[in-house]
Amino acid sequence: MTTSWADELAFATDLARQAGAVLGDSYERVERIDYKSKRDVVTNADYASEHLVIDAIKTRFPDDAILAEESGEHAGVLRDDGTNNGRTWVIDPLDGTVNYANGIPFYCVSIGLVVDDAPVVGVVLDPSRDDLYTATAGGPAQLDGEPIRASSKDALSDYVVSLAVIGRGGLSRERRIAPRIRIHRRMGSAALALAYVANGRFDAFVQNGGLSPWDIAAAGLIAERAGATVTDIKGGPWWKPGVSGPRANIVAAPSAQHGALLETLASLKTTVQTRH
Ligand code: IPD
Ligand code: CA
Ligand code: CA
Repeated sequence: MTTSWADELAFATDLARQAGAVLGDSYERVERIDYKSKRDVVTNADYASEHLVIDAIKTRFPDDAILAEESGEHAGVLRDDGTNNGRTWVIDPLDGTVNYANGIPFYCVSIGLVVDDAPVVGVVLDPSRDDLYTATAGGPAQLDGEPIRASSKDALSDYVVSLAVIGRGGLSRERRIAPRIRIHRRMGSAALALAYVANGRFDAFVQNGGLSPWDIAAAGLIAERAGATVTDIKGGPWWKPGVSGPRANIVAAPSAQHGALLETLASLKTTVQTRH
């Protein structure tokens, strides 16, 4: 089956803009912050954005399943024989909640469509800048409708890298990576920072664990379609069907330096052991 995914892309784009408007309306007016864990927070805006997105998908594509951060899995309407149609929308209604709740304008809405276990549509909207990153499987990555490409820098030593090394000793490992690149940043919105790889705002993105499918479904595809090589931290596939919790890791970089980056990470033993 070949398709351009044009309908789904237009739908997801419109939806991201609506959700972004919801987030914009509540920005710096957060009513309530709940602590899911010591570091994980959720606001009324996360829930409002997610409700809007889920309602719209259920209305327009009732047969499709949904995986959303705050409400989990929603099965679509099954076929007569009890099977599903293989399509799942993967939603982060607000990525960068800690930034958002603290009034730091680096956050986004992320909407991905996964079909037969492969991401095929990705939309990441930064409401603060009104930047809309999009991609489809087989199509170009775009920012506001214009094609974008990943960084073409030659040297890893010139790279500005979105780097989050979590786990024991993470910060000291980051300090040991630092001399090999120009500078590293930890932005607090994995989806938006990963989308930045698509137009070279970041030369590369690394997070060695703690990522959920909704953090990466859309932005991973966008980075890939912009020409970046996107893998897990060991060089395997970045999209892992069936992984539903915060167990993913990802490395996105131009192919010229992707291998060198993986070698650097391996030499510093940055792999986080996670339970499966
Ligand atoms: C988090 C952010 C953060 C990343 C975490 C995510 P949230 O998502 O993307 O940058 O390091 O792994 O859980 O909670 O803001 O949606
Ligand atoms: Ca997230
Ligand atoms: Ca979120």
